[in-house]
Amino acid sequence: MKKIVFATNNAHKLAEVRALAGSDFQILSLEDIGCHDDIPETASTLEGNALIKARWVRERYGLDCFADDTGLMVDALDGEPGVYSARYAGNGHDSEANMSLLLENLKGHADRNAHFSTVIALCMGEEERIFEGRVDGQIAEVRSGSNGFGYDPIFIPDETGVSFADMKADDKNRISHRGRAVRKLFSFLNLK
Ligand code: IMP
Repeated sequence: MKKIVFATNNAHKLAEVRALAGSDFQILSLEDIGCHDDIPETASTLEGNALIKARWVRERYGLDCFADDTGLMVDALDGEPGVYSARYAGNGHDSEANMSLLLENLKGHADRNAHFSTVIALCMGEEERIFEGRVDGQIAEVRSGSNGFGYDPIFIPDETGVSFADMKADDKNRISHRGRAVRKLFSFLNLK
């Protein structure tokens, strides 16, 4: 079985990616390789941040690695929170506070169009690759559902009409930004 590091400790993301990886790959988390570094995410683009994380593991641990960075882009807010989605309401990575601020900032806006974008950077030997996935939808007026994480209770993908948090993990994976990017990653890795 081929081993590859996914530069995250987010249990939800690990479960999503492991479900898509199939049995040929063992996906190791940062915890699994003993990496407790606070990897800086200082780039101003999703691609930049994904590359920082994947290169960090490749350079310091000598392991093949991929990393993702995701943003929620809301049309009526000129693409905010975007690359700052994790800390929209401050530095605490608090999803409840992030959702409350987003709903507050969208009050009175008729246009609730938004999309999630995921960029995955792969560092494999000397090779670097980028994979992208996107899902379009709407920001709900109120939260709904208890599955998933982050902004899932207020994001309604166009394909389903119910929030990500109201969907089963498999159904979310099938259409989600990360699911789409991860499938491109594994199509590439399976050809290696
Ligand atoms: P990250 O770059 O993947 O850590 O994501 C940045 C922010 O977007 C975090 O606040 C996450 O909670 C949020 N986020 C990432 N992926 C998802 C998702 O699939 N659903 C809802 N929120 C997400």
